[in-house]
Amino acid sequence: MRLDKYLSEAAVASRSESSKAARSGKITVDGAAVKSAAVHIDPEKAVVYYCGKKVNWRKFTYVMLNKPSGVISSTDESGRTVMDILPPEFIKMNMFPCGRLDIDTTGLLLITNNGPLAHELLSPAKHVDKTYAYTCEPAITEEQRVKLEKGVDIGGHISAPAAVELFSGTKGNITIREGKFHQIKRMFEAVGSKITSLERIAFGPLVLDESLERGGWRYLTEEEEKELTSVGSKN
Ligand code: URA
Repeated sequence: MRLDKYLSEAAVASRSESSKAARSGKITVDGAAVKSAAVHIDPEKAVVYYCGKKVNWRKFTYVMLNKPSGVISSTDESGRTVMDILPPEFIKMNMFPCGRLDIDTTGLLLITNNGPLAHELLSPAKHVDKTYAYTCEPAITEEQRVKLEKGVDIGGHISAPAAVELFSGTKGNITIREGKFHQIKRMFEAVGSKITSLERIAFGPLVLDESLERGGWRYLTEEEEKELTSVGSKN
């Protein structure tokens, strides 16, 4: 991989910044200064320093975002997207949201550039659990809770079994494995209620970090990365 691409993927410097830095002898590869950022390096093995700081390049990057309301999850629509509230380098690193949350849904959204893993995590066959804290109006009863768990008609589709925990008639957690458009909102409508707020609090092995404010993000820890990638590799 070209050194300038490596540095841009590591969100360290743009390609033009890299060539300037190389010309001024500010980049070393395996202990020796390089004169050009166009040199090719082995990204898995090279030890690169940029302006005296060791570069931490990873093949894939994983970020947990606490999505605020009012931004859309896709990258390709006009309107404010989740990528607009993240560092611009992430776009250069080909990062994208793994799955979609409605514009008014908040909470855990994984942002990554690991396309094959994202595909696996979103595949219905993988059965990745997604848990949401909800509020609804009017309140639902135990009977409606059971219906939601067993499966309801959301318009030509019977929802797959879910888990619903009631904290009160209007508050609870719901865990689903599917990811149909407006799935939870449609499930509640099917039992005669309406979702008034929805926050994703878990996605597979990832649990929303409560210390992240809305719009806040952080890289996944090594442990989280390991758990996530092992979900991807399970059949
Ligand atoms: N179900 C919904 O209705 N909306 C979401 O954003 C996620 C799940």
